[in-house]
Amino acid sequence: MNTPSILFVCLGNICRSPLAEGIYRHLVASDAYAGEIASAGIGGWHVGNPPDNRSILTARQHGIDISRQRARQVKPQDFATFDLILAMDASNLERLRALAPAENRDRLHLFSHYATSTDVDVPDPYYGGQGDFDAVYTMLFSGCKALVAKFAIEPFS
Ligand code: 4NP
Repeated sequence: MNTPSILFVCLGNICRSPLAEGIYRHLVASDAYAGEIASAGIGGWHVGNPPDNRSILTARQHGIDISRQRARQVKPQDFATFDLILAMDASNLERLRALAPAENRDRLHLFSHYATSTDVDVPDPYYGGQGDFDAVYTMLFSGCKALVAKFAIEPFS
């Protein structure tokens, strides 16, 4: 398997991207995966906080513990460090494109586009209910499964 380092990015790094990080880590849990796996937020409002309780709950219901993650903000070094930087929605991607140095912009992708060649946003569930978090989980799980399949069959460059 190819093992690119991946940074999952959303707005606050407490709802969607911690779930993406947790699911992806769970799926690739193997000594053979050498790439760094992390998540970050565009904004810094929740830096140092654990994920939203609703994300922790939906992950736990699927046997994944994300409670020890702590939010952090995207930093300039991320653009040179990570092979892939996957944005949860088009707005996140636009913000990343504005922040990234031109030579690293090819590392930025919409999560759904990169994973499944679709252009759907993973919707922000922050002002929603538990059902919205469950729907986000389902989207992220199928996207992360597609990533794993993609890396196993395509050379990473
Ligand atoms: P996330 O959700 O981007 O999936 O972590 C949000 C979390 C917090 C806020 C917005 C979105 N907020 O405005 O504080």
